[in-house]
Amino acid sequence: MPIDSFDCVRVELGCRGYDVLIGAGLLAITEQLISDRLGCETKAFIVTDTNVAQHYLETIAQPLIKSGRLRGTLTLPAGELSKSFSVLETVCSKILSADIERGDCVIALGGGVIGDIAGFSSAIVRRGLRYVQIPTSLLAQVDSSVGGKTGINTIHGKNLIGAFYQPHLVLADINTLKTLPERQVSAGYAEVVKYGFLGDSQFYNWLDANLTSIIELDHHALQHAVKRSVEIKAEIVAADEKEHGDRALLNFGHTFGHALETWARYSDVLFHGEAVSIGSCLAFKLSEELKYCPSHTTARISAHLKRARLPTEIAEIRGGIQPDAATLVHLMKQDKKIRDGQLTLIMARDIGQTFVTQEIQHADLVNFLIRQI
Ligand code: NAD
Ligand code: GLY
Repeated sequence: MPIDSFDCVRVELGCRGYDVLIGAGLLAITEQLISDRLGCETKAFIVTDTNVAQHYLETIAQPLIKSGRLRGTLTLPAGELSKSFSVLETVCSKILSADIERGDCVIALGGGVIGDIAGFSSAIVRRGLRYVQIPTSLLAQVDSSVGGKTGINTIHGKNLIGAFYQPHLVLADINTLKTLPERQVSAGYAEVVKYGFLGDSQFYNWLDANLTSIIELDHHALQHAVKRSVEIKAEIVAADEKEHGDRALLNFGHTFGHALETWARYSDVLFHGEAVSIGSCLAFKLSEELKYCPSHTTARISAHLKRARLPTEIAEIRGGIQPDAATLVHLMKQDKKIRDGQLTLIMARDIGQTFVTQEIQHADLVNFLIRQI
């Protein structure tokens, strides 16, 4: 398949810049792309999970075996609990046992969990191996595979241990989304619409008109949604790679969302994208209460998220239990953006207009959350 049948978005980071290729059919030509982009001598080690392996491991591995370049594979248990210290040790140890050198590459084949842990392992083994992201979930294609945030969770909070470490190449094959469970498609959609919320109201309007086609995985709608999301993310990352400023906007809804995920102990009662959906609604609602944004906005975006089969309130978390406000604020205060004990939150002036603030007072936040629970 000719390479120009795919969209290509460049993440402009000078000598650490890389391409994100987006299209249907990329998996089948992975071996060729790795040869072209990373060199034909490059050896590879694949990290994947149990769900993804059964669909796609063979397609990636066989051509690499044939060319004598596959040094090993590791299939982790699917799910958020694999982003842990103990699994990190296993991944690093297997990569070292496979004699992967700095000039070789780790292939992260899977969703955001695999991308984050394989990326973090690549950052620290031999102080830095090359790695290729092959995102197979919607969330990973539009967000986690791009921008170089890698890491693991701890009981203290989400992604609190990690590194900024950019991949060498990202291959987003939208055909892989055909096997993604419906609930995961919706969860991934929460990160797609985030780009509309945070800075592109035109994209939000397009998403609102094309929502059904996207979640039903129409090829053209998906291709545009993934491409536009990656373009927005690439631009923000290029301007602020290490999150000293506007990259924080990409965390819209996440300070609430990460606290909810930690409270739920990273279990299947709440997927990351679902937590982001609830967090986005909370961020709009608080923005409304503080008169930053017009009063009808939360109702509008909640209706949109509901159409995407996403939860919009804390009460909708599966399992019928809810955190208390003080616990949530305590967990929110583990956020990486905290300064002198003061939370940094992303608030909205409207759909497509967000800003970073440290002005939200602790008591206001607790009172706000008491009213939401
Ligand atoms: P995930 O990796 O757990 O994947 C979701 C589920 O879908 C898993 O069960 C997985 O096995 C399965 N799956 C993935 N692709 C599949 C396919 N094509 N067919 C069938 N099943 C498939 O979770 P996720 O939603 O992809 O990612 C969430 C993670 O990403 C969280 O840990 C979050 O913190 C992280 N994240 C990181 C960044 C970043 O910038 N690094 C950004 C956003 C989210
Ligand atoms: N997903 C948030 C970021 O990459 O900054």
